Amino acid sequence: MTMDLSPVNLREFERAARDRLDPVYYDYFAGGAQDEHTVRANESAFAAIELVPRILRGAEDPEPATSLLGCPSAMPVLLAPTAFHRIAHPEAELATVRAAARADVIMTVAMLSTVAVERIAEEARGVLDGTDPKLWFQLYVQPDQEFTRALVQRAESAGCRALVVTVDSAALGRHERNDRNDFHQLPEDVQCENLRGLGGSDSGNVRRVTLSPEISWQHIEKLREMTRLPIVLKGVLHPADARLAVRNGVDAIVVSNHGGRQLDTTPATIAQLPVLADAVSGRIPLLLDGGVRRGTDVVKALALGADAVALGRPIVWGLAADGEAGVAKVLELMRSELENALALCGVSAPKELSRDLVALRKENSRSREVQA
Ligand code: FNR
Repeated sequence: MTMDLSPVNLREFERAARDRLDPVYYDYFAGGAQDEHTVRANESAFAAIELVPRILRGAEDPEPATSLLGCPSAMPVLLAPTAFHRIAHPEAELATVRAAARADVIMTVAMLSTVAVERIAEEARGVLDGTDPKLWFQLYVQPDQEFTRALVQRAESAGCRALVVTVDSAALGRHERNDRNDFHQLPEDVQCENLRGLGGSDSGNVRRVTLSPEISWQHIEKLREMTRLPIVLKGVLHPADARLAVRNGVDAIVVSNHGGRQLDTTPATIAQLPVLADAVSGRIPLLLDGGVRRGTDVVKALALGADAVALGRPIVWGLAADGEAGVAKVLELMRSELENALALCGVSAPKELSRDLVALRKENSRSREVQA
């Protein structure tokens, strides 16, 4: 499928995807929990932050390459885990991983992927002349510990380099768009391939993914015994939890509200980032996702203390709009916007970004004063 007019930014990819997707699937991807306050806040909070660039610094051409948990990446932008790529495009995660591998960035494979993790890794090796792909694996801890162990071992043997444990999902968020559309079952040919054999679960059910409401720090400790992979906690918003994560030997955290799909009215991730950066104070890498749509958003997140960001919906929009080529274009746009923003900030590498380069928009700080 080729597009007549190529989108020139990530938001335009959403429109292109919407034109091609079944409206029920579009709503599944775009939607969030309840009133979707947090979905909107994630994006609008970026717009409320100003960049205050430096000048005349003789900066060299920007080089956005970085390394996370020992894994090099062409830029500090990862693919966040998103479920069910097959309902966005028939080539599903295989198209996504080819684009990620060619762009030399890290893809987080969702536990709820519609292609098995081993097959995704093999596809990536195919475009990388057999070299090891840059894959992380996202896990929802399962009530059945042996199934969790088997999944972790599969991810490890497939060559995944980190385990991203999603910790904001003791229950499923309430997605009213899905209820309105009566979307609760995946089409028959779409299956969660990593869940085959999971006792008692229906791997095609959109809403009956088994989660562990009883999940606690003990589960993280158990995971530590199960694997040598670095453990990344995804879905941290409270600074006390960030400090506990460091104390419990977690290797990195992702500041995330699940793209506004879990608890509605949580703060925008970029608004919450500074307090988490202070809590962690550089002891472990800090990632952020939610509402990242522009190179300038990446610069703001890094200036406020993140080591990298991840894209959720924009990747799905690229995939839905044009398969591998769509995801590739999303990543290419992000890279060139990021290079442009770094150059205009007078900075030549992500690590040079510091808090003095950002400011809260005046009317925001005023309204904060009034509230205080
Ligand atoms: C997600 N996200 C998600 N996270 C996770 O840990 N496991 C998962 O299976 C999924 N699935 C999923 C599906 C869809 C359709 C979306 C939009 C999101 C959350 C995702 O990893 C990430 O936190 C957010 O998507 C980031 O926000 P943006 O970039 O979508 O605004």
